[in-house]
Amino acid sequence: MARFVVTGASRGIGLEMVRQLNERGDDVIAAVRTPSEELLAIGCEVAEGVDVTTDEGAQRLVDALKGRKVDVLVNNAGLLIPDTLATLDFANALCQYEVNALGPVRITRALLPLMEEGSKIGIVTSRVGSLGDNTSGGNYGYRMSKAAANMAAVNLAVELKARGIAVVALHPGYVRTDMTRGQGNISPGPAAKGLILRLDELTMETTGTFWHAEGHQLPW
Ligand SMILES: NC(=O)c1ccc[n+]([C@@H]2O[C@H](COP(=O)([O-])OP(=O)(O)OC[C@H]3O[C@@H](n4cnc5c(N)ncnc54)[C@H](OP(=O)(O)O)[C@@H]3O)[C@@H](O)[C@H]2O)c1
Repeated sequence: MARFVVTGASRGIGLEMVRQLNERGDDVIAAVRTPSEELLAIGCEVAEGVDVTTDEGAQRLVDALKGRKVDVLVNNAGLLIPDTLATLDFANALCQYEVNALGPVRITRALLPLMEEGSKIGIVTSRVGSLGDNTSGGNYGYRMSKAAANMAAVNLAVELKARGIAVVALHPGYVRTDMTRGQGNISPGPAAKGLILRLDELTMETTGTFWHAEGHQLPW
């Protein structure tokens, strides 16, 4: 049994990860801004008021943990505001940067004192944040924020190597959630299952890598 903290657990992929981790007997703390009925129905521990864009939100999560060790931190909270070059709104781009790029770093830094050798960190980024894999363009704000999130994953992996903490960037697939307005190839259940498997497999040998939930490595 491991202690997992999952951000953005009110709905979508985060909610499913929490459900599955709870079912298999892990100790899971669901970090949310506001709990959903679906989350409360799971019956696991919930940390409320955890807006990943604020220090106050991060501190609420630290307070909720009450000094307990964190084995796996899943930075899952994310925001997509679709755009094109013509419709790009720079304020919206900054909002996405706050959530998708700075959010994982803010939460990771806050929780690091609760992590030790063998702890793991996952950042749910997206393959649309890959420079090498961009063939379709569009979504400037989202793509650029996820590219920065990928850099955060590599940077954290480099910095935390000496402490024996492994870091991985994860792509869940094209998943039918609110974010995609219900479009996608898979439902949140199998996506969450794949992400959990990738986190289970993560070691110091694979720290600083980028994986599809289905189990193949992705280019940065
Ligand atoms: N769905 C896909 O196809 C897909 C593909 C690639 C990557 N991803 C990534 O996968 C992750 C989960 O996405 P999803 O599809 O499950 O999206 P979703 O259904 O829209 O859920 C997003 C979650 O993030 C939370 N969140 C947003 N802003 C937040 C903030 N400032 N502080 C704390 N929590 C915040 C939301 O909480 P509230 O309920 O409070 O708004 C919600 O729980 C995201 O990082 C996303 O970018 C998704």
